[in-house]
Amino acid sequence: MNMKPKTTLIIFGATGDLAKRKLYPSIFNLFKANKLSAEFAVVGLGRRPWTNESLRETVSQSLIQTENEELVAQFCEHFYYLPFDVQEKKSYHELNSLLGELDTKFQIPGNRIFYMAMAPEFFGMIASNLKSEGLTETNGWTRLIIEKPFGHDLPSAQQLNREIREAFSEDEIYRIDHYLGKEMVQNIEVIRFGNAIFEHLWSNRYIENIQITSSETLGVEDRGGYYEKSGALRDMVQNHMLQMVSLLAMDPPLRLTPEEIRSEKIKVLRALRPVPHEKVSDYFVRAQYGPGKVNGKEVPGYRSEKNVDPQSYTETFVAGKLIIDSHRWAGVPFYIRTGKRMRAKSTEVVVQFKDLPMNLYLNQEKKVHPNLLIIHIQPDEGISLILNGKKVGASGGSEPVQLDYCNDCVDSGNTPEAYERLIYDCMLGDATNFAHWDEVDLSWTFIDTISKTWESREIEIHTYETGSMGPKAADELLSQDNNHWWSINEINK
Ligand code: BG6
Repeated sequence: MNMKPKTTLIIFGATGDLAKRKLYPSIFNLFKANKLSAEFAVVGLGRRPWTNESLRETVSQSLIQTENEELVAQFCEHFYYLPFDVQEKKSYHELNSLLGELDTKFQIPGNRIFYMAMAPEFFGMIASNLKSEGLTETNGWTRLIIEKPFGHDLPSAQQLNREIREAFSEDEIYRIDHYLGKEMVQNIEVIRFGNAIFEHLWSNRYIENIQITSSETLGVEDRGGYYEKSGALRDMVQNHMLQMVSLLAMDPPLRLTPEEIRSEKIKVLRALRPVPHEKVSDYFVRAQYGPGKVNGKEVPGYRSEKNVDPQSYTETFVAGKLIIDSHRWAGVPFYIRTGKRMRAKSTEVVVQFKDLPMNLYLNQEKKVHPNLLIIHIQPDEGISLILNGKKVGASGGSEPVQLDYCNDCVDSGNTPEAYERLIYDCMLGDATNFAHWDEVDLSWTFIDTISKTWESREIEIHTYETGSMGPKAADELLSQDNNHWWSINEINK
């Protein structure tokens, strides 16, 4: 495989936030790590009347200021800007001739990645214009990277998919779920399938429950308009959380190919037990953050945020219990929770193992501490294992001991950004860490009944304190099964 394919990356939304925060720094890191061919070009498109110079200036400002200036200047020379109106055929013709010129200048054999980093309502129209105006007919390959949200529910996702499939085939479409680019999310498979001590125990025979928490400290910031229509269920659960569930629950793939891995993940999503309308409250809890203090400063509650309806029922927190009806997982709940304005910015998986049938070594509370495997996805990257050891000095009792492996310590904190990996994978044509249509389809099917039930407003919406771990109802979801949420900080107390 050519590890440095000559490519032009065309970014729709080049003046936007995502491009500045994530895409330019990631492409620069690839350049710095010598993963890009010397012949590459990036074309930025946007409505603003920028020039090549203004784009290059923005790109350079988006990089850390300590970068080598000469290297940054060399990098920026590969960037070109074209003012673009997505509804105007003329824009596509201008783009096509610019791409032709760049192919000649950089000797790129027509390989093109179209990156949609802008408002989703235009995705379908852009794809169709790219095809009708001849931009996808090249001597090389053409691929489409598409940002979330991929639809708003199943019918809108199907519609969007139909539109983009008219111009691109499924294997040319790379649907971004940036969680799949995270080092420790990718590590889930290795931890599971590379270790006899885990894989043999990875089933309902030995596992009590699995918990995934993804908490944030920020509120909705200036995304109130988007978030009001989305809420945490669509924003985080339909994509990132369900992707993590499928990686944790999948069977070992036959081979490490995108097709084999995907087909195992899809089986998990197919086995998710649908939550019928009348049972939504038994399995899912939704809530909104109230006002509070962050770092000593007053912050508004969700309903007082900018562009948010003061009567809003949009959830900023979701907790759920998922049941996977398969041989491996029958009887094991997968608990998920995610929310904004919570206590910490952290994503963590906790696997709680079952107790021994008889254990004589009790701790000071006259109980046995369960064995836990904790996968720290972010901000720390690593794993912890909680075992029981002899209580030091005293005889008879046990106490939990914690073994820690810190991934980013080894790497001096310099693990590549999710976007960097994903853009590089797309250049190489590796779709393993992107969401396939079947996954999107199944996850919307699961989510839709819950969101429809919530939209009907028959079910209450809880409030939680800013800086907490969510409403009491989220704790009750587990306590009714005699379980509770684990967090590494609590274990350490
Ligand atoms: C995005 C959501 O997909 O993920 C945001 O739209 C959320 O609302 C973000 O803040 C969280 O990503 P990360 O990588 O910071 O956990």
